Amino acid sequence: MSLLRLDIYNVRNILNETIIPSPAINFIFGENASGKSSLIEAIYILGRAKSFRSATIKPVINFAHNQLIVSAQALQPNSNSLHLGLQLEGDSKDFCCRINHHPTQKKSDLAYAFPVQLIHSKSYELLDAGPQGRREFLDWGVFNDEMQFLPVWRKFKKALLQRNSLLKTRQLEQLNVWDKELVYYGKMVHDYRQRYLEKVKPVFIDIIKRFLVIDEIDLRLISGWDSTKELQDVLAENIDRDIRYGFTHSGPHRGDFQLLVNNKLAKDYVSRGQLKLLIISLKLAQVQLLANENNNMGAVLIDDFAAELDIINRAKLLNHLSEMRCQVFITATEVADFGNLTRTKDYKMFHVEHGIIKPV
Ligand SMILES: Nc1ncnc2c1ncn2[C@@H]1O[C@H](COP(=O)(O)OP(=O)(O)O)[C@@H](O)[C@H]1O
Ligand SMILES: [Mg+2]
Repeated sequence: MSLLRLDIYNVRNILNETIIPSPAINFIFGENASGKSSLIEAIYILGRAKSFRSATIKPVINFAHNQLIVSAQALQPNSNSLHLGLQLEGDSKDFCCRINHHPTQKKSDLAYAFPVQLIHSKSYELLDAGPQGRREFLDWGVFNDEMQFLPVWRKFKKALLQRNSLLKTRQLEQLNVWDKELVYYGKMVHDYRQRYLEKVKPVFIDIIKRFLVIDEIDLRLISGWDSTKELQDVLAENIDRDIRYGFTHSGPHRGDFQLLVNNKLAKDYVSRGQLKLLIISLKLAQVQLLANENNNMGAVLIDDFAAELDIINRAKLLNHLSEMRCQVFITATEVADFGNLTRTKDYKMFHVEHGIIKPV
């Protein structure tokens, strides 16, 4: 899926802009504080209904207004066109979204319609920060790969919340019912993640080989409980501790994954530069798998292209992105940061200044 036309209203310093992007690579340049990240943010919001820079939507909306709108005309893999529109207000949690002019209240509809993958400065923390980011990374992949994952995950989450609330209020007689639900759906969540990791692994290895010479690489799922035992037994064993602290210590909500290079944790073993390339490859592998399995290639957003990668790896990455044939939006402060573009096909270049975006 690629955006044919994008309209942005009131996203930070972008007041009312329309762009006609290339279905391939779009380069966006402009001085600091011109609005490049805001453009990336607008596209991200269109796919995920949330920002990657602010926890709430209020700071994203232009100071002088109380709502933002992002809408797009897109081309689906089956050549049908699709209209996406999203309106967000600062004060309410309500969100108003239209897909082909039909209103929907489900963020997941939007996310399935327009999967966006983002690479920005915080992405490079994926492997050394806490497990939450890795769980989100993994679950976004599973969500796109398996339509059945979301309802299962929701049922698991509900069971977990119920169980935790019973633990807190010490209503232990009802625990049994929710334990059963938690174990049933928890194991399903775990199995989905396991299958997904197995699928994404070869795709990831294929991509990383373009950047690095690495002998042995592995992705390993961490279940979130002592996996030599059954989840129900672990819950039973830990019940005193769970009651004492008022929450469930074991289950896939504590899940994680590890990236191993030569059997060692990548984050403790490889260089900073290599770690970045591993992370980029992981993210691109998710996009590639989506294309391979669902014929749905989302958009790839790369904010601050030059900040984290040296010129050789930037060139390799551009080359790979061209071959992937997905729609890409990349920002940098200078055109020169994009490198030599003589062999890059079908790209468009946009200049941003004071929130105004112009093709060049
Ligand atoms: N809610 C808002 N309303 C208006 N301007 C904003 C808002 N939030 C941030 N800005 C401003 O928008 C400008 C563009 O920011 P940004 O997109 O991060 O720039 P760039 O990525 O080009 O460096 C900055 O000057 C910032 O202060
Ligand atoms: Mg920026």
